Amino acid sequence: MKIDKVSKESMNLMHEEEIKILEELLTTLDVVHFERLLEHMQEHFESEEKLMKEANYPSFRMHQAEHAKVLREARYIEMQIRNAQDSKDLLSYLEDEFSPWLDQHIKAMDTPLADYLVSLGL
Ligand SMILES: [Fe+2]
Repeated sequence: MKIDKVSKESMNLMHEEEIKILEELLTTLDVVHFERLLEHMQEHFESEEKLMKEANYPSFRMHQAEHAKVLREARYIEMQIRNAQDSKDLLSYLEDEFSPWLDQHIKAMDTPLADYLVSLGL
């Protein structure tokens, strides 16, 4: 999967790691890899939120709400998969919802955040 680069390298590294885990998960479609993705999402979002707080980022609440929403959705899917043991749902979630979300989120929210941080010299 191709994603946009932002102007802050540490954020790109985080995004690339997440894509790597996502791609592995797309081949295995198992709960163990899904757990890894969830853990990484949490770490990734927390690191961005920490940067936003430190920089007094004006769109902090909106950006944080987007993170919280997608984490809630992913956790809900995880619960469904654990109950149903069905990897078809996971595949369609990842392909139709999570991947387009991540791409869009990076374009619409992470790109301006990175530019803001870089403009402050952070
Ligand atoms: Fe973000």
